[in-house]
Amino acid sequence: MSAARQFRNLALIGFMGSGKSVVGRLVAGQLDFDFVDTDDLVEAAAGRSISQLFREEGELAFRQRERAVVLALAGRQRTVIATGGGLVTYLDNLALLKQHALVVCLWASAATIYERVRHHHHRPLLQTPDPLGRIRDLLAAREPFYRQADVIIQTECRNPREVAAQVVHQFHTAVSQQ
Ligand code: S3P
Repeated sequence: MSAARQFRNLALIGFMGSGKSVVGRLVAGQLDFDFVDTDDLVEAAAGRSISQLFREEGELAFRQRERAVVLALAGRQRTVIATGGGLVTYLDNLALLKQHALVVCLWASAATIYERVRHHHHRPLLQTPDPLGRIRDLLAAREPFYRQADVIIQTECRNPREVAAQVVHQFHTAVSQQ
C-alpha cells in the first residue's frame, strides 16, 4: 500500500500563458496561503532575469537552477507554487512536488496560448519566427507530463476568477479525502 499523500501545498503546472501566476495569486488569497512563483525564485537566486539566464547560460543551466528551487520548496507549507512551464519535464521535479503538494494543471490549447502570449517578449523560448509552431511542438512534447497532474482544469472560456474557484474546490476536496 502506498503512503498517504500530503497536501501541505498546492502546485500549479501547465504551459506558459495558462494562467498559473494570475490564478495562483487568487487561490493563495482565498486559501490564506503564501504565493511563490518558481520563475521569481530562480531570478532572485541568480540575480538575473530569465531572458538573461537563457542567453548567458543556456536552457540546461536554467533547468538546473529551477531544480534547486524545487528541492528547496519541499520545506514549505501553506503555499501556492506557480511553476515555470517546463519545470515538470525535467528529471523527477513532478514527483518531488507531489510529495508535499496537490498538483493542478491549468490547460489551454496551443491557439489560445498563442493569443495570450503573442504580445509578451519576456519568454525566451517563444522568441522565434514561428511562435505558434513552437507552442504546438512544445505542448505536444509536454502533454504527457502535464497529464500526470492530480487534477487538470480547462481554462478556455473561463476567466481567472472562475479557474481559481475550481482550483480551490479541488484542493478542499483533495484535503478532505486525505
Ligand atoms: C518556460 C516557461 C517560463 C519560464 C521560462 C521557460 C518554459 O515560465 O520558466 O521562460 O519552458 O515553458 P511561465 O510558464 O511562467 O511563462
